[in-house]
Amino acid sequence: MTPTAAPSAAHTVTPALESDWAYSPAPETVKVAIADRYSHFINGKFVAPRKSGYFSTVNPASEVPLAEIAQGEAADVDAAVKAAAAAQPKWASLKPSERAKFMFRIARRIQDRARELAVLETMDGGKPIKESRDVDVPLAAAHFFYHAGWADKLGYAFPGRTPRPVGVCGQIIPWNFPLLMAAWKLAPALACGNTCVLKPAETTPLTALRLAEILQEVELPPGVVNIVTGDGRTGAALVNHPGVHKIAFTGSTEVGKKIAGAVAGTDKRLTLELGGKSPNIIFEDASIDQAVECIISGIYFNQGHVCCAGSRLFVQESILDEVTTKLRMRLASLRVGDPLDKNTDLGAINSRPQLEKIEHYLRIGREEGATLHAANASPLPAKGYWCRPAFFTGVQPSHTVAREEIFGPVLAVLSFRTPEEAITRANNTPYGLAAGVWTDKGSKIFDIARQLKAGVVWLNTYNRFDPSSPFGGFKESGFGREGGRQGLKAYLCT
Ligand code: NAI
Ligand code: MG
Repeated sequence: MTPTAAPSAAHTVTPALESDWAYSPAPETVKVAIADRYSHFINGKFVAPRKSGYFSTVNPASEVPLAEIAQGEAADVDAAVKAAAAAQPKWASLKPSERAKFMFRIARRIQDRARELAVLETMDGGKPIKESRDVDVPLAAAHFFYHAGWADKLGYAFPGRTPRPVGVCGQIIPWNFPLLMAAWKLAPALACGNTCVLKPAETTPLTALRLAEILQEVELPPGVVNIVTGDGRTGAALVNHPGVHKIAFTGSTEVGKKIAGAVAGTDKRLTLELGGKSPNIIFEDASIDQAVECIISGIYFNQGHVCCAGSRLFVQESILDEVTTKLRMRLASLRVGDPLDKNTDLGAINSRPQLEKIEHYLRIGREEGATLHAANASPLPAKGYWCRPAFFTGVQPSHTVAREEIFGPVLAVLSFRTPEEAITRANNTPYGLAAGVWTDKGSKIFDIARQLKAGVVWLNTYNRFDPSSPFGGFKESGFGREGGRQGLKAYLCT
């Protein structure tokens, strides 16, 4: 690509570029049946809430309510925990290869129903269909496949020990990868002989409830997985239930801290996967086009609703102009709009509060003196929650947009001169979830990766996930690992 426009005060994208990249509409045609109302899934059955509370989950791309969802109260959580406790000894004493068979069946059914699950995920959460189809759903199946493989090999995972399950696991998940997070939590727990009570996020409960149907189809024994829907109050009831032996939480650092406080002084185990402000460092010797492509997906992927998003870009000073020009060009070609369109790059922001939060940061960034570059040529739908992808230049490390998690399609671009400076600046954050390094020099790669305080460091790539690779944070990004052999530890007494 040849740069067309030098950075200007207006910071809009040229219409010519937009039209170069125009595609005809390519809507996903599969229609998914959604019930008017969904109950909790307890002891293998869908059961109405003990008190009659329901709330709506909406489609964030249209603001149309999709279904009524049960608001779980303490009594519902109690019934789910009791069902999980009753089912646990039998599940744990099942021949491990039999546990694995159930999990393989779940994985296969996720594959069989992949298209339906992808459409539902996109409707409930707003992410583009190409992501739910190519990332969320295949990875969810992969997590069940991978962990099914461990079920009868746990003795090999921890040689010389006799690993035992922890018991009943309370699992609370966010809205950015609803089905995938359910799989991340359930698959290792089940492989290790635990039973679960899962609480999906209130804006995106539909795929977890579809998964409950799959659990019925594969005849998973009742009580092994229970799903209680609701908001933070339901999550808190699960955290505080005395019958829960382990809490696994993914979500905001703020709620993670509350949960850590609630669990302190009890014998509950805890793993937390929280927020991030991950650095992506690009050196002058990197393959710049390749890096820019990955930087773009590293921050704008899933509207930036990614805990490990590479939201701070550190660019070596000598290539700052080249990189920012290429970023502007690439930003211009990203398509924002109908998430069910197969050509859409950025779908809807998950909820109005999340959109307001992102807009607040866009305002603060400008007020503090950074320069905003946003692709804003194409019209956005009248209804729904939309945010055009954007990046800030002229960002100082003290700026709010360089320090706080925005959780939206907004990148802060900073510069550095030496590798030492890059490392110091990258580590200057309360978070430590992920990092990226771009350079052609192998020795530099390993030297720098060792010095970055992050749970995952991607080298010449970004946002790569695999069930065999442990994921988790340092500092305020949480503790504990999910995935791989290390991830099993959280679900076993070894
Ligand atoms: P949140 O942390 O409030 O929600 C995550 C889950 O925790 C949901 O299932 C929610 O119902 C539950 N929850 C809320 N309060 C709880 C409590 N006191 N006890 C137990 N469970 C509770 O996240 P929210 O409000 O949806 O998003 C706020 C911000 O959090 C975002 O703007 C983003 O910065 C960050 N976030 C980070 C995520 C990550 O993957 N690291 C995922 C979602 C949000
Ligand atoms: Mg929704």
